[in-house]
Amino acid sequence: MSKAKQQAARAALNAIRERFHPNEVIGIGTGSTVEFFIDLLAEHKGEFAGGTATSVATALRLKERGIPVFDLNDVAVKVYIDGADESDSQLRLIKGGHGALTLEKINAAAAETFICIVDESKFVDQLGKTPLPVEVIAQSRTHVCRQLEKMGGQPSLEEGFLTDHGNPLLRVSGLDFTDPATLESQINDMAGVVCCGIFAHRPADILYLGHEEGCREITSP
Ligand code: 5RP
Repeated sequence: MSKAKQQAARAALNAIRERFHPNEVIGIGTGSTVEFFIDLLAEHKGEFAGGTATSVATALRLKERGIPVFDLNDVAVKVYIDGADESDSQLRLIKGGHGALTLEKINAAAAETFICIVDESKFVDQLGKTPLPVEVIAQSRTHVCRQLEKMGGQPSLEEGFLTDHGNPLLRVSGLDFTDPATLESQINDMAGVVCCGIFAHRPADILYLGHEEGCREITSP
């Protein structure tokens, strides 16, 4: 699997490196596929200004490799690179496997182009095979769980984990993903939800689907 992730990471780097500019800040996601990307990106430091980081872990890895980290408030991000837990053919995603979904959603929204890098096991006919991450305010946990249960979901609290923002994370199975954009809005509208891991309103623009021997590029329909 890691070979496939590396293939996707390399394809994304090759796609953007021609356009590197000394003032450019690249949005950087979180996860093992992104870690491969950061390691490849580090070979080109100096050709771009640095990156925004969607998690403490990503900020640390960027700094360790000598890549400056910028606050998203202070820069414009043309390209955002991130992994995903699932993608469908419309490049709608489930994200948040590592609990960094809120900053990932903000970076994806702020970027002109969102490039998603995944191994081929993540490409699905319909979203929803992976439990959906939902970041909540601590005091709203029970209320949000009841609302999700009314929708047919089975939420469970990720024990012993808080997001980088200090919030609990729910993982929800059993939801109906026939209409991912409506589901995303319904969950995000619940009082106490910080963010859910459906990326349907802002899907990826380009998907690099890595496999052992190479990589396939899929662009947004
Ligand atoms: C982090 C994410 C990741 O992109 C997603 O979980 C995939 O991770 P990996 O590249 O390790 O398979 O959304 O919150």
